[in-house]
Amino acid sequence: MKVNVILSPNNVDDLYFTGKTTVVIDVLRATSVILKALDSKAKEVIPVGSIDFAMKISVNSHGGQTLLCGERNTQMIEGFDLGNSPSEYTEERVGGKSIILFTTNGSKAIVKAKYSDKVFIASFNNLSTIADHLIKLNNDVEIISSGASGIFCLEDTICAGALVKLIMEKKPDIKLTDATNASLTLNEKYGKDIKLMLENCEHGKILKTNDFESDLDFCSTVDNIPLIPYFTGGEIKLLNNEIIDSQSN
Ligand code: MLT
Repeated sequence: MKVNVILSPNNVDDLYFTGKTTVVIDVLRATSVILKALDSKAKEVIPVGSIDFAMKISVNSHGGQTLLCGERNTQMIEGFDLGNSPSEYTEERVGGKSIILFTTNGSKAIVKAKYSDKVFIASFNNLSTIADHLIKLNNDVEIISSGASGIFCLEDTICAGALVKLIMEKKPDIKLTDATNASLTLNEKYGKDIKLMLENCEHGKILKTNDFESDLDFCSTVDNIPLIPYFTGGEIKLLNNEIIDSQSN
């Protein structure tokens, strides 16, 4: 089993992922929001790469069963139903609904991974569950750190390093690339106090300035949502036991 961390989605093109097992991380805040939405019983999350496309596919939805969600420059987009704060995704608001999600980096990184054989969504909220599932699969893994506008970011790389560390605790013989080693080293240095790291990273500071400081509490919580979101056919749903068993064989 070899684990590679992609330090920015811009480092590779879409076809790079063909046939691979891929994990997408956007701690602040897209993948944390996806975990919260599915934990609050949203039917599915549909990640999109543009606001136009989000608008287009929402036109075909009926009866208020679809919500347009996400952000531009951290703020809710005009005409959308929800922004990109985990606290907005309560069961009352999203239960049973399809969430169309556009975000500046995270939703685009997920769409980019579409040619993968398997795509999983991770944040600090489901780290151990994802690690255990990857160990069970025993495939080579690509972990995408979604970054910020194509540029490296600390929080996603540290989350990737924390994920690799968990895998190595149970499977010490995995092969690591240079980028994976770098993510492990960064996690050693900055990953001991995740909340503090989120407060001090560039995007965390922007969120604080825009009054989203409480989102950092949710996004820094480890293993509070032991779920495996799985992206297939354009939709992110929860992996159920039937699929888990068939993937492990
Ligand atoms: C992103 O995808 O870039 C983030 O989710 C931005 C944000 O904090 O809302």
